[in-house]
Amino acid sequence: MDSVNDVATKAAQVSEAGQKHLYPPPADLAAAAHVKSLDEYKAMYRQSIDDPETFFGNMARQFHWEKPFDSVGPVYNFDLSKGPIKIDWFQGGKTNICYNALDRHVAAGHGDDVAILWEGNSPDEQASHTYHDVLDAVKKFANVLKSKGVRKGDTVTLYMPMVVELAVACLACARIGAIHSVVFGGFSPEAIRGRMADAQSKVVVTCDAVMRGAKPVQLKTQVDAALELGKDDFTVESVVVFRRLAGECPMVDGRDTWWHDEMATVTADCECEWVESEHPLFMLYTSGSTGKPKGIVHSTAGYMLGSWATFKYVFDYKPGEVYWCTADIGWITGHSYIVYGPLLERATTVMFEGVPTYPDAGRCWAICEKHAVNQFYTAPTAVRALMKAGDDFVTKHDRSSLRILGSVGEPINPEAWRWYYSVVGEERCPIVDTYWQTETGSFMITPLPGATPLKPGSATLPFFGVQPVVLDDKGVELEGEASGFLAIKKPWPSASRSCYGDHARFESVYYSMFKGYYVAGDGCRRDADGYYWITGRVDDVINVSGHRMGTAEVESALVLHPACSEAAVVGMPHEIKGAGIYCYVVLKDGQVASDELAAGLKAIVRKEIGPIATPDAIQFSEGLPKTRSGKIMRRILRKLAENPAIDMAELGDISTLADPGIVALLKDGAMKLA
Ligand code: PRX
Repeated sequence: MDSVNDVATKAAQVSEAGQKHLYPPPADLAAAAHVKSLDEYKAMYRQSIDDPETFFGNMARQFHWEKPFDSVGPVYNFDLSKGPIKIDWFQGGKTNICYNALDRHVAAGHGDDVAILWEGNSPDEQASHTYHDVLDAVKKFANVLKSKGVRKGDTVTLYMPMVVELAVACLACARIGAIHSVVFGGFSPEAIRGRMADAQSKVVVTCDAVMRGAKPVQLKTQVDAALELGKDDFTVESVVVFRRLAGECPMVDGRDTWWHDEMATVTADCECEWVESEHPLFMLYTSGSTGKPKGIVHSTAGYMLGSWATFKYVFDYKPGEVYWCTADIGWITGHSYIVYGPLLERATTVMFEGVPTYPDAGRCWAICEKHAVNQFYTAPTAVRALMKAGDDFVTKHDRSSLRILGSVGEPINPEAWRWYYSVVGEERCPIVDTYWQTETGSFMITPLPGATPLKPGSATLPFFGVQPVVLDDKGVELEGEASGFLAIKKPWPSASRSCYGDHARFESVYYSMFKGYYVAGDGCRRDADGYYWITGRVDDVINVSGHRMGTAEVESALVLHPACSEAAVVGMPHEIKGAGIYCYVVLKDGQVASDELAAGLKAIVRKEIGPIATPDAIQFSEGLPKTRSGKIMRRILRKLAENPAIDMAELGDISTLADPGIVALLKDGAMKLA
C-alpha cells in the first residue's frame, strides 16, 4: 500500500502538468446541453446529496416499475463496526432492466429506431439492428435459456467476442432474472475455469472463433479446455455456440448446440420476470491486491439508474445521435456504456468487433466518418497508440459529426489529452475524463460537457449523488486542497452490493480499511477548485492498458514454472500501455537464467491468465528485498522498475531489510535489463 506521501508526490507531478489551461465548455454545446452551466450542475448536485429521495426518485419514475418502489432510499450501512455492509435502493419496487432497455421503447413506438450499429472486424461487414430486432432476438434467446433449465437467480457464463449476440445474451439473462457473468474473450482456459468454478453456471454461451485484425481467435476450444480442467469443480450441462466463422468447431454431443439451431426452435414470446430492485443483475470478475479475481455483483434498479443517468448526462446524448464506446463488453465499460446505459436511453450504440489498427490506424476515424458518430469514448492507451501512428490517419477522415470525446481506465497524460482534443476533436469537442471502477458500476468523478471547465488530466468533479472524500493515513477526512486516499462516504445507486458468494471478502476489501467509507484503492489530489486528480492505484494492482491486473495473480502464475522459486511483480512505466508488468524472478537452485527461461515464464503467465497479462520485463535476481519478518518491500522494487538509474539514497530506508545488500544487486540487474 502506498503512503499518503507517495500519493502527494505523484499528485504534484500530475496536476502541475495539466493545470496550466482551463478549457471552458463551447458556448453552443452548453446552450443545448442537458446541464448548461456549472451553477446548474452545482444546484443539481446539491439536491442529489441533500434530497436523494426527490432527485433520484424523479429520475427513477421515468422507468417502468411493475410494482412502484416504496422509498428511494438509500438504506445503507458503510460502517463495519455497526454490522454487515448493506446497500439498498428503491425498496419495495419490482422492475426489469431488459424491459426498460427494450420493450419500453418499442411500446412507445420507437421499435424502428436503430439500437445497435454493429461494425465487423472487416470494414465491409456491418449490420444495423433496430430496437424491435434486438427485442425479438432477446425474447427468443431467453426462451432458449429457459429450455436449458435456467431460472431466476441462476448464473450464466458468457464467453464471446464483440458480436451482437453477446448483448442479446446479456439482456436475455436479465429478462428472466438470471445473473450473467461475462468473461472477457481474451482470458485463458485457466482463467475461465476459475471464474466458472466460482459462479457455478450450468450454461455457457460462446462462439466458435472470431477474427481480430488479421488474427483468428479461437473461443470454443478455450471453453472446452476450461471445462476439461474444471470437471471436478463444476458441471456444465449446456454450451450454446454462436457460429461466427465457417471453420471446424468441435461439438460435444448432448452438451453443445448451435445458437442458430436453438433460435429456430423457440418462439419470440417471452414475458419478463419482474424482479425486486436489489435482485442481482450480473457479476463481473475483477482483480484485486490479493487472491483470485472476485465476482463483483451489481443490483438491478440501482445499476439501472446509475448507468442510464451517467450515460445521458455525461455524453449529453440527444435522440438520433450515434454513440460509440470502443471497449469490449468483457469489461465493465462495455456493460454500462455499450449495453445498458445507451439502450436505457434509447440511444444508437455502435459495437465494434475489431481492433483500432486494422486494416490501418485510421480505422476508428473511418468508423466515425461512416456512421457519423457524435460521441466517441475510448481509453488513453488507445489514444496514445493512435497518436503514435501519426495525424494523417486521423485528418484524412471527416470527423465533423463528433461532439464529445471520452476517456476512461487510467489518468490521461496531458500530451495524449491535447492530441485527442486538438487533432481528433479539432478543439471543438470537450473531453469527458470519466473516473470509475468495476465496483462503482457507473461514473463517479467526471465532467459534464456543457457545464464543467476542463483541466487536462483531471476527472474534475463528482457525478450526482457521489460524495468523494480525501483521507489521510489514519482515515481522517482532509479539507480543501489535499492529497490522500480517495474514498466515498455515502452510497450511490450503482454501487456494487457484494462479491459473489463471499460477502465477507467484499466487506474486508472495500470497507475495512477506514470505517464508514468505501475505499476505492486509488490515490488522489483535490485542488483549490475542488477538482479531483486521480494519481493511480495505491495497492498491488497494475493498470495495464486500462485493465486491472493483480500482481498476486501474475506471481501465482510465475511460481507454477518448475524453474521458479519466488516471484515479485510490480508495475513499470510504459509508453503506450500506461503501465507494464515487471517481474522479479528468483530461480530454484541449479537453474540458470536464460532468454529461453524468460520466454517460458512469459508463456506460463499467458497460459494461466491470458495475453493481456504477458510480462513486459523479467529480471532474474538472487533474492528479493525482504524485511526480517519476510515481507517483500515492494516500494523498492517499484522504484527500481520505474527508474533503474535511481540514486540509492532515493530508495528510502533499507536498513530494515534482512539483507540490504540485495538492493545493489537488484539495481545492477535492472540497469542491465534497461
Ligand atoms: O485506478 C483507477 C482506474 O481504473 C481503476 C478501475 O479499473 P476497472 O475496475 O477495471 O474499471 C476500468 C473502467 C472503469 C480505477 O481504480 N481508472 C479508471 N478510470 C480512470 C482511472 N484512473 C484515472 N482516471 C480515470 N478516468
